[in-house]
Amino acid sequence: MAVMRIAKMGNPALKMVAEPVADPSAPSIEALARDMQETLEDIGASGLAAPQIMVNLRVVVYRMIPARIPAKSGIDPIPWTVMINPEITPLTKVKTEVWERCLSVPGLHGKVPRWPNISIRYQTLLGDWVSHDAHSSWAALLQHECDHLDGILYPARMTNLSLLSYNDEPGPLAEDIATNGAIDPLFKDLVVRWPARQRWFPTG
Ligand code: NI
Repeated sequence: MAVMRIAKMGNPALKMVAEPVADPSAPSIEALARDMQETLEDIGASGLAAPQIMVNLRVVVYRMIPARIPAKSGIDPIPWTVMINPEITPLTKVKTEVWERCLSVPGLHGKVPRWPNISIRYQTLLGDWVSHDAHSSWAALLQHECDHLDGILYPARMTNLSLLSYNDEPGPLAEDIATNGAIDPLFKDLVVRWPARQRWFPTG
């Protein structure tokens, strides 16, 4: 079992364009993916890209747990998935804003423009190429993780930085939830646990 240290915003490892994996079936890649999964399980988180543990390779590990799936989104839970050399193709021209957090930007959340519908292709640990479509929170998570492979953290994608907040002061998020029901339960939970919610959003 190996739980790896996660680089935080400011670490040069997070600014690099990661290298393609030449042989996805190499034992070293399987070991890397296992370390990434164990790191995520230790934190209880959903997604990690190799540059976040300072490995400059195009590898992402993620899952979709029920606590991350908005009601009525039609997304099913997804078990641990390893994506090697992933490539995203947007299926829409217009982005929509989605609340995000990042293990490399601890304590904060922000609302980030993302394509609501994408197609993604990647190699498995066997080296096979697979592709599928994804939408809403799932599509945003995939875009977030693949951005790490290009040295991009979500604050760099934000177009309205007034929507960047601390997790224990989630004012803009609470305001959004009061008017918009389709939000990731993980973010609703931040607001539910916010002691000041009743002061600012007594009906929220
Ligand atoms: Ni991240």
